[in-house]
Amino acid sequence: MTDIRVICAIGLRGQLGLGGGMPWEGDPRREFREDVARFFDVTRGHVIAAGPVTARSIPDFARRDRTVVELRSQTRPEDLFARFADRVVFIGGGPPVWAAYARYVRHWDITRLPYDGAADRWFDPVWLTGGSAPEVSVR
Ligand SMILES: NC(=O)c1ccc[n+]([C@@H]2O[C@H](COP(=O)([O-])OP(=O)(O)OC[C@H]3O[C@@H](n4cnc5c(N)ncnc54)[C@H](OP(=O)(O)O)[C@@H]3O)[C@@H](O)[C@H]2O)c1
Repeated sequence: MTDIRVICAIGLRGQLGLGGGMPWEGDPRREFREDVARFFDVTRGHVIAAGPVTARSIPDFARRDRTVVELRSQTRPEDLFARFADRVVFIGGGPPVWAAYARYVRHWDITRLPYDGAADRWFDPVWLTGGSAPEVSVR
């Protein structure tokens, strides 16, 4: 069975993207460099399936030791999973892709980075719960 996972990094308020890239791109601080290094470590040997903008942002060197697949709106999740049965597939975003694939994900690996600036793409916590609100009883 395909093992479907997500690895992503967010800012302090859930910032995900800005202008087609990471909002903190080029930040030289240790946490940011370690996050990029860890992304490549964790995904090595596996499949990354992502929307066109995100897939395009994966550099050539990284394609040598992982499989990068571009997901389109027409792609059927079942076809993706059948193609990569018995592999680990990281659903790489962006937000509409995570919204569509969240219900298949069994492991979320989210790093919270010390970034509090602008963004035009945001993490939606509903992806983690499928939108089911907990029952709250107040006594
Ligand atoms: N912080 C992080 O960890 C992280 C990770 C990933 C991305 N990002 C950021 O997010 C931004 C890119 O994301 P994006 O959403 O703008 O573009 P994207 O990566 O191209 O993803 C969205 C596109 O994926 C396609 N898609 C494929 N399957 C889909 C489905 N089942 N339902 C809906 N759409 C589907 C759609 O394009 P078509 O309709 O043309 O097929 C959609 O417009 C960048 O800023 C990037 O840096 C951040």
